[in-house]
Amino acid sequence: MKKLRLFPLQNVPSEMADATIAFRNDVFEGLTRNPKAIPARWLYDHRGSALFEAITLLPEYYPTRTERSILASALPAISAIAGPGRALVEFGSGSSAKTRLLLADIEPSAYVPIDISGEFLRDTTVGLSRAFPTVPIYPTEPDFTRPFALPKQIARSPRLGFLPGSTIGNLTVHAAVDLLRALAGTLGAGSMLLIGIDRIKGQEVLLPAYDDPQGLTAAFNLNLLHRINRELGGSIPLGAFRHVARWNDTEFRIEMHLEAIRDVRFDVGGRAFFLAEGETIHTENSLKYGRGEAFILLRAGGWKPVADWTDDAELFSVVLAEQEPPQAAP
Ligand code: AVJ
Repeated sequence: MKKLRLFPLQNVPSEMADATIAFRNDVFEGLTRNPKAIPARWLYDHRGSALFEAITLLPEYYPTRTERSILASALPAISAIAGPGRALVEFGSGSSAKTRLLLADIEPSAYVPIDISGEFLRDTTVGLSRAFPTVPIYPTEPDFTRPFALPKQIARSPRLGFLPGSTIGNLTVHAAVDLLRALAGTLGAGSMLLIGIDRIKGQEVLLPAYDDPQGLTAAFNLNLLHRINRELGGSIPLGAFRHVARWNDTEFRIEMHLEAIRDVRFDVGGRAFFLAEGETIHTENSLKYGRGEAFILLRAGGWKPVADWTDDAELFSVVLAEQEPPQAAP
């Protein structure tokens, strides 16, 4: 069992927001452990989200456009299997182009966008309600990694959950199974799940997707250090770090790290930290799955695949699954 370090809060200015306190605690804890690692969710501040949007347009970053084209061609089949009248419940965001494709085709009873960023939710809701005036939209902002109550307006609709973008790949396998089970609890009996999962492929394709020649992914990763300096009063010299993307061949994942290019000392919120030359801060995982591995992952999380689609090069896959109650063998 890992020892939890507690950081007393008595020096926190009273106006420090809960989110800032959580950020500071994750940074303190992450820079104190060995190897150093900071949770990926802190990459996505306003600037980080804008950089990620720019990354999705890069020729090297295949997931977004590949998923969109798979969805576009699979839509008739998805609509036929799921049937009309389901409430579409979308987990996470940044995918309103894909959402539009779905809303135009599946004849949903309602749309429930779920995101922790209220600002993003309001923009999506306004845009989509103009484009789809007959589909009621009920945005909510819970932490969807735990089961939560869906808006009561959709109580009588069967549900279609939507988890695009290989968001599941940011989680360890253990946490991914927990999330899938939480989604099963949230969506309820009879629900279906449409999920985008990135495939295992050669490093000649994977590495440029996570270390592009324009340096957008590097800027996205290094933005975490900017954010620490700005929001937590850090003195991190950004020039002392470089972006590194690596393929981990036993965990089947791309890892992003920030590597110290020399010995470096800095302060964050009054605490001193040190990295030796070559030491890294691990900032993100992006797990990749083979077709069968994706199926096993879904089964472990309580979902039975009923259909799946991929592109010609098998870069990315979209799986439609139905909730599966636990069964006795055989
Ligand atoms: C949004 C988490 C799916 O892992 O491909 C892109 C994030 N990080 N480039 C991914 C990301 C670096 C992206 N996800």
